[in-house]
Amino acid sequence: MTDADFNRIRRLLKDRSGIDVGAGKRQLVYGRLTRRLRARGLRSFNEYLALVEDASTDEARFFLNSLTTNVTELFREEHHFDLLRERLVPEATALGTRRLRIWSAGCSVGDEPYSVALTLAALPELAAWDIKILATDIDSEVLAQGREGVYQMDRIQKLKPNMRALFSRGVGSKAGLARAGDRLRSMISFKQLNLLEDWPMSGPFDVIFCRNVIIYFDAPTKESLVHRFTSLLRPGGYLLLGHSESPAAGCSPLLDSAGRTAFVRKAIR
Ligand SMILES: C[S@@+](CC[C@H](N)C(=O)[O-])C[C@H]1O[C@@H](n2cnc3c(N)ncnc32)[C@H](O)[C@@H]1O
Repeated sequence: MTDADFNRIRRLLKDRSGIDVGAGKRQLVYGRLTRRLRARGLRSFNEYLALVEDASTDEARFFLNSLTTNVTELFREEHHFDLLRERLVPEATALGTRRLRIWSAGCSVGDEPYSVALTLAALPELAAWDIKILATDIDSEVLAQGREGVYQMDRIQKLKPNMRALFSRGVGSKAGLARAGDRLRSMISFKQLNLLEDWPMSGPFDVIFCRNVIIYFDAPTKESLVHRFTSLLRPGGYLLLGHSESPAAGCSPLLDSAGRTAFVRKAIR
């Protein structure tokens, strides 16, 4: 991979996804894309990039899937799920809506939307509420995993008993796996969405999670996304960001701090 190849890859990735991969990631990029060259039987990055530059090819999708970072875990930054239980639910109850719309933007394999679903499904008083969680990502592979909702049993064992009960043990002949039950899966819709493109949803959302996603974007893209997210929140709705992303929320005069890496859309006066 020449310098020119690497720069072409960086430009293409940034234009298509917003992901700004630093020069320090060259080896990682090389490792991930070499696998794609091999899978296609290609001998040079030049040939490979010619294929990927045509956005309509399957390989353009594999290129993005290979270069996204999908690290995630159930109940990552747990204070956000406490906020759902301790603030969002009592506030929604006081409004008398019994309806929640939550968006996990950049959901990866689904640990974030499943953590939301687990938090809300474990509250018996919400049993009759109309709750929908939209889970989106640019990466088609992680979305397929999310729809499956299959977890290693040892990850499920760490959950509280009332949450563990929302999974069914064993997947086919595999006893070491568990699958999210119907209640959880019916709450979540996984959809492919590139955050840089137009969004088909009109909102309003009660909560938008966008954590550990815009960290890879440049400052103008981060700010533009914060404005777009804010415009889809109801007054009193929450924007939840990752730890190092939260300074970006400072660009919006419509957001107030709501505690650690949490922001609330100001009420209309
Ligand atoms: C590190 S994961 C974060 C997962 C989860 N939000 C969490 O905090 O655990 C980042 C996710 O953002 C997705 N992503 C990156 N660029 C994107 C874009 N332009 N549009 C939508 N998703 C994107 C990646 O595919 C990846 O799955």
